[in-house]
Amino acid sequence: MTLNLRKPMIAGNWKMHLSLGQSVELAKSVRDATENAPGEVALCVPFTAIAVVAEAIKGSHLRLGAQDLYWGAQGAFTGEISAGQLVDAGCSHVIIGHSERRRLFGDSDDWINRKLKAALAAKLIPIVCVGETLEERKSEKTFSILEGQLAAGLKGFAPAELAPLVLAYEPVWAIGTGVTATPAQAQEVHAFLRRQAGKLFGDGFAAGQRILYGGSVTAENADNLMAQPDIDGALVGGASLKAAAFARIANFQVPARAPARRG
Ligand code: PGA
Repeated sequence: MTLNLRKPMIAGNWKMHLSLGQSVELAKSVRDATENAPGEVALCVPFTAIAVVAEAIKGSHLRLGAQDLYWGAQGAFTGEISAGQLVDAGCSHVIIGHSERRRLFGDSDDWINRKLKAALAAKLIPIVCVGETLEERKSEKTFSILEGQLAAGLKGFAPAELAPLVLAYEPVWAIGTGVTATPAQAQEVHAFLRRQAGKLFGDGFAAGQRILYGGSVTAENADNLMAQPDIDGALVGGASLKAAAFARIANFQVPARAPARRG
C-alpha cells in the first residue's frame, strides 16, 4: 500500500450543532463544493447525525468522523459510544482529546491514550488534539504542556501502530474566539510538535506526520496558514457550519508542496 501520509486534510468539527435535516443539507453542499479540493475533506458530526450524513455522502470523496468515543468495546457504559459502533454507523475518522472534552468533560491524557488505542484497533483514523491555554502561553509553558500531552497521549505505541495518526494543534485561546494564531506562531508550534514526534518515534515517522491547525480558521486566513511548511491541514469549528466558508477553506490555495512520506 502506498501511503502519502502528508496529504493535506481539512476537517470540519460541527460540535453540538444542527438538526438532522440541516446536517444532510450542509453535507451535500460541502460535497458538491469540494469535489476538486487539493486534500482530504472530512466532516466530524454529532453522533446522532452520523448515519444520515453517511447515507447523504455515500460514494463521494468526503470522509466522515465522530467527535469522541469510549474505549470499551461494549457493555454497561450508559451514554457512551464505542469505536465499533462508530464504524458501523459509517465513520472512518474520530476526533480524540479536543480541548472542550479535556476542559468541560474531564478527558485526561490517560483517557485520550485509551481512546486512541480503541480507535486504532477499530481502524478509525484518529485526530488527536493538543493545545495550550492562554495562561500557559503567557507563562511560557506552551512547549512543556504540548510535550507532556503528546508523550502521555501517544504512550505505549510502536511507530507502525501510529501510522494513521493525525495530530491537531489547537491553542485553546484561539478556539471559537476569533483570535487565530498567526501563521508564524502556528508554524513554530507545528515544527516543535514534529520534532517531538521525531524524538518519540523517529525522524522518518515525524516527516510523515500530518499536523492540522485548529482555532478560528476562516476562509480569509486558511491560505496563509496552509502555506506554512509544517501545517498539513485544518480542524475547523465555526466556519465548518457554513458551506461556502468551509468549501473555500477546503479548496485552499498555496504554492505546490513537496510530497513527504513516512519512511
Ligand atoms: P473554531 O473551533 O474553528 O470555531 O475556533 C475549532 C475547533 O474547536 O476544532
